[in-house]
Amino acid sequence: MADEPMNSAELRAALERIRSEAPGRLVAATDPAALEALRVELLGRHGELTVLLRQVGSIEAAERPATGVLANEVRAEVESALQERSDELRASDLDSRLATEAIDMTAPGRPLRVGRLHPTMIVERRLREILHGFGFEVFEGPEIETDWWNFEALNIPPDHPARDLWDTLYVAEPGSWEAGAPRPAEDGTILRTHTSPVQIRAMRALKPPIRVITPGRCYRYENVAADRNFEFFQVEGLVIDRDTSLADLKGMLEQFAKALYGPETKTRFRPGYYPFTEPSVAFDIGCLVCGGVGCGVCKRTGWVTLLGAGMVHPTVIRNGGFDPDEYQGYAWGMGLDRIAVNRYGIADIRLLMGADLRFLDQFAEGR
Ligand code: PHE
Repeated sequence: MADEPMNSAELRAALERIRSEAPGRLVAATDPAALEALRVELLGRHGELTVLLRQVGSIEAAERPATGVLANEVRAEVESALQERSDELRASDLDSRLATEAIDMTAPGRPLRVGRLHPTMIVERRLREILHGFGFEVFEGPEIETDWWNFEALNIPPDHPARDLWDTLYVAEPGSWEAGAPRPAEDGTILRTHTSPVQIRAMRALKPPIRVITPGRCYRYENVAADRNFEFFQVEGLVIDRDTSLADLKGMLEQFAKALYGPETKTRFRPGYYPFTEPSVAFDIGCLVCGGVGCGVCKRTGWVTLLGAGMVHPTVIRNGGFDPDEYQGYAWGMGLDRIAVNRYGIADIRLLMGADLRFLDQFAEGR
């Protein structure tokens, strides 16, 4: 249609129409692709304006100059309007990108997880608190020990049957499995099976009177079940002084049990056996669940064992660097995980090490 020869009046009218319609058409192009399509429609090889410009050459000669000027004006206008619109679209595209990437100050914040103390650590803190009050300071030792500190120094020689009570996990030193190297069991590096090796370390590091507690993680080669795990926590207590006696040990532990479980708590001592204490005792408290009548928790005995204890064996005192004729001492060791499951009524001790936050989040104490 536009290709048909026009006279100058028709051509001018067509140019003016494009000029007046251009703003509306530009606004209707709302993205770069639509704008490019519009540019082709107007200024492409067969574009509306291109076709009209070509017509200028075929109108009446007298009208050509003025119509040519108008045609060039309209083309210049359309070109710059296209450019302007293109800049505008690019800017608003940037705005929208910024809007999606920018921080929305009104959005609700991402909730921060509030950490809690692990139930076993709540128990540990409570024990520290009580025993600090009794004048004990904390002394820590390594979880990776050698056979000597864990057993021999504690009067448990190799092949002693008591070792069966503390079978352990043997650690390979890096490279120790290479041909000809000692196997881990032979090189003596182990995971400690109790906190008792720290007794020796404390004696060698400190001067009497010594009153220390040694909290920490221990490991055993264990038949894992609801009431026992291969990984657990203990707190050891050690007193080294002149003239300490079993009476001191008994008095201290009775007070300790009452501080932990309340003044009405029943306690009893039974004979026990540990190679590193002599005499050795087991210390029980009256079952908190049935009050002593007998139930599943206390296996119908009315009593629950809280810890093992005794007077430090002379050999152990000597291995700690002291003369047993001059110094005596008492020691005890207790498992924190057991105390935690009793305190919170947890049915399976393995849950403590399950790293399941749905479980652990239930223990609100001690944030
Ligand atoms: N180490 C002993 C155990 O783990 C507990 C204990 C410690 C006993 C100190 C007596 C003295 O079973």
